[in-house]
Amino acid sequence: MGSTPADDRDELFALTRAFRHSLAYHRRAGAWAAPGTPSFRSVTDPDSAAVADSVSVTVSPVDAVSVLGLRSLSAIRAELGDCQRCKLCSTRKHIVFGVGPEPAPLMFVGEAPGADEDRLGDPFVGKAGELLDKMIVAMGWGRADVYIANVLKCRPPGNRNPEPDEIAACRPFLDAQIQAVRPRIMVTLGRPAANVVLGVDAPISSLRGRFHEFRGVRVMPTFHPAYLLREPDRKRDTWSDLKQVIAELERLGVPSPRPPKA
Ligand code: URA
Repeated sequence: MGSTPADDRDELFALTRAFRHSLAYHRRAGAWAAPGTPSFRSVTDPDSAAVADSVSVTVSPVDAVSVLGLRSLSAIRAELGDCQRCKLCSTRKHIVFGVGPEPAPLMFVGEAPGADEDRLGDPFVGKAGELLDKMIVAMGWGRADVYIANVLKCRPPGNRNPEPDEIAACRPFLDAQIQAVRPRIMVTLGRPAANVVLGVDAPISSLRGRFHEFRGVRVMPTFHPAYLLREPDRKRDTWSDLKQVIAELERLGVPSPRPPKA
């Protein structure tokens, strides 16, 4: 016998109730922010009892991304907040989160902001950034087409190397950015970025020039543009790495959006 409208309504109510409970549970566990609330709450949050009601708001397609666990870049940035998770917070001027579209087929990951980036709040805006922009354009892309982030979001004093506790504090945010940006290919710039992303401790010369993998994303380590400014002879190697990236993107059905005119 078929179901009656009353059966259907009861089933719908039961499903809705179960869904609300599930949302409230994950929300209390801090796995993601409920729609409309940018910050993550802990289990001890005094508001958590009211969560079941708060999830009945209309979910826009953008919010739905965070509900599904694939947090949007703006939700990740909101979670980062005025970050105090490591000692760099006491010396930084700006948090340098990252720039670019979401999703973006091509993502670049550098080491950490320098003085210019710290002053302006955007990654790769100094001399090394100018060279990175030229590399991106030579690949047939534009800065606005790609996502650019760093392993660390705050400048280490004097541009010293990132320290393990700083990497550990920042790493979840880089991972979340990668998940949100969903790049087809990531290019890591310099040894620290390659080592952090790939979870290895190896010289850049032994990593560059071939694809590696991180969570299903192809990763091409290459030289850092700041190193290329000091060692211009290595630009040839870098260009060979980037040509592999162009070819692989084409093979994946992602041609360059702005191929250089011949
Ligand atoms: N070097 C980096 O690794 N990142 C920047 O954003 C600037 C310089």
